[in-house]
Amino acid sequence: MKLIAGNWKMNGTRADALKLAQGLVVAEIGKRNVEVAICPPFPLLEGVAAAIKGSGIHLGAQDCSSFEAGAYTGDVSAPMLKDLGCAYVILGHSERRAQHGENDALVKAKMTAAHKAGLKVILCVGEKDARMPEGPRRVFIKSQLLQSLAPSTSVENTVIAYEPVWAIGSGLTPSPEQISSIHAAIHGFLPAALDAMRVIYGGSVKADNALDIVNLAGVDGALPGGASLEAESFVRIVKAVK
Ligand code: PGA
Repeated sequence: MKLIAGNWKMNGTRADALKLAQGLVVAEIGKRNVEVAICPPFPLLEGVAAAIKGSGIHLGAQDCSSFEAGAYTGDVSAPMLKDLGCAYVILGHSERRAQHGENDALVKAKMTAAHKAGLKVILCVGEKDARMPEGPRRVFIKSQLLQSLAPSTSVENTVIAYEPVWAIGSGLTPSPEQISSIHAAIHGFLPAALDAMRVIYGGSVKADNALDIVNLAGVDGALPGGASLEAESFVRIVKAVK
């Protein structure tokens, strides 16, 4: 089944989150032919978990620690997220990599911790520069993917999100042909045992372009950011899946 996961990033109060979550529940998007997840900031997880209970919509977080517990001020562990009702956690997002210096080794350690806690991981990979030629682009993505992938990875516990950094929040997207071709390449980079893994696309997915992206060959869903902050646009993205 395809996956549409909304990355709320650092947005919203408890009241905003409740309103948004209720809008999604009313639209019954958790009861369609597509898996739906929403990933609010940490303080909003518990309230959203209560609001979406029984709706079929899954809860996700945007990061977790590579450690289970201990003296890690400011961090949040994977078991804590599991305890809150999270099914998913986004790891290796380019904003974490750029703003918090996360490298592939750390992402891999976080993945291992997330899998151990029973969370499914949405692992983000993608090149920074739109002008990167095709060859180096593939080399870069292959390296990022294989270096970040934890040994605990299975088809069931992981989804890859191809997110070209230049497309995030910019309103730009690669062409449908480029998206299909890089998704096929990503499948080729994965070990044979992981060939059936879902590869979703992220980077300026909106209600207006979702139909053309989420139904492409090799595209198993989407990870919208900005467009997941309004119920109407997120619902339209979910409904774009044929
Ligand atoms: P965007 O963000 O849809 O706002 O471009 C996507 C993401 O960063 O996951």
